[in-house]
Amino acid sequence: MQYSANSLEHHWMPFTANREFKRSPRLVVKSEGVYLTDHKGGSVLDGSSGLFCAAAGHGRKEIAEAVFEQLKTNDYTAPFGLSHPGSFEFARRIAELTPAEINHVFFVNSGSESIDTALKIAMAYHRARGEGQRTRFVSRERAYHGVNIGGTSLSGMVKNRETFTQVMPNVVCMRHTWLPEHRFIRGQPEHGAELAEDLQRFVENYGGSTIAACFVEPLAGSTGILVPPKGYLERLRQICDEQGILLVFDEVICGFGRLGTPFGAQAFGVTPDIMTMAKALTNGAQPMGAVAVKDEIYETITQAAPEKSVEFFHGYTYSGHPAACAAGIAALDIYEKEDLFQRAADMSEYFLDAVFSLRDLDLVTDIRGYGLIAGIDVAPTTAPGGRGTQVQEKLFWNGVHLKFTGDAGILAPPLVSERSHIDEIVEKLRKTLKEVESQKTN
Ligand SMILES: Cc1ncc(COP(=O)(O)O)c(C=O)c1O
Repeated sequence: MQYSANSLEHHWMPFTANREFKRSPRLVVKSEGVYLTDHKGGSVLDGSSGLFCAAAGHGRKEIAEAVFEQLKTNDYTAPFGLSHPGSFEFARRIAELTPAEINHVFFVNSGSESIDTALKIAMAYHRARGEGQRTRFVSRERAYHGVNIGGTSLSGMVKNRETFTQVMPNVVCMRHTWLPEHRFIRGQPEHGAELAEDLQRFVENYGGSTIAACFVEPLAGSTGILVPPKGYLERLRQICDEQGILLVFDEVICGFGRLGTPFGAQAFGVTPDIMTMAKALTNGAQPMGAVAVKDEIYETITQAAPEKSVEFFHGYTYSGHPAACAAGIAALDIYEKEDLFQRAADMSEYFLDAVFSLRDLDLVTDIRGYGLIAGIDVAPTTAPGGRGTQVQEKLFWNGVHLKFTGDAGILAPPLVSERSHIDEIVEKLRKTLKEVESQKTN
């Protein structure tokens, strides 16, 4: 063992089988470019950009230096009633990337906080317009919106909810967008736009004027990459417009080039009212999230409050932390200088060809993909998620890190990846799947 920790016992790890992990740990001691180094000295290609964070690859010196400089100059500024230049500059830079009507940015520290903040913004907006009766929220099965109380309430993943029954009331879930006929379809399926009619049914069942907002990931990420059917997001937009419901896109995974455009909104040509973001916002180098809103939302909330009074009673001690803003500005500089969003678009076809080549394997039951992200389902054992865990562990020791959710693996290499890296991921995944297949007993 080469790790320096004397004991692994004290760290209670998140979303981890703690007992199993501590018997058989996998630690990363170094990360550079698209590679990680494990505690035994092995090289591991980061096939999921960490957790979809490291778009520009790991160990970017520009980001490290910007954070170091910032910490030396001004390490922390209280963010309530005070700020520092970096927060305004970073917000301006983000607004350059969001759709034209979305120009106001609220900083938080994670994707989960961005969701809870978006919920509160929706409530504050409707209240400011005299529509405080809009207390219901719509989400979707197989959604992942983080783990705070708001995000847990909106999530459509049973394991993330069943222990926590007393969360937010008044949330209803539309059906997810995967249909059996979507199996092995690349890009947006032709069929399935009618699933958006679930929102219309809620309008008819509960009354459109009781619904505050509809939350969706433009492309559902964490539950295995469910690409929206053609016309689906457009129909959600139309219903929201007709009913005065805010449409919220959770762009935590889709944002910052993953789909070959700045955000999912541009990839699918649908503009939401509110966008949540995190992860690649700082290339993962500092914890940070953000919520960007249409000008009308910002103006409605701020103008409803008396002059010189706080307009929105919400914020975090670390909102717009100077080091996180410095990391974010440096990350956006890299994305721009290296034209990484376009690079993802250009690499997409090669990437999807490579991933879809795995469909001949018996263990592979479905593949979906768009831009530089793809989901691959492996046949489950009797215990859901068991096969996914087995593949993930074996693959790590074979030299590739992939995020798995249950039995779905998610390939999302850094946007700086070369073709050879994509080949390496797919070859090692093929080898691993064959090894698991040969040991299969059920
Ligand atoms: C779509 C989406 N929303 C929200 C979150 C939560 O983000 P965080 O883990 O930073 O709280 C995630 C995390 O994976 C996500 O994928």
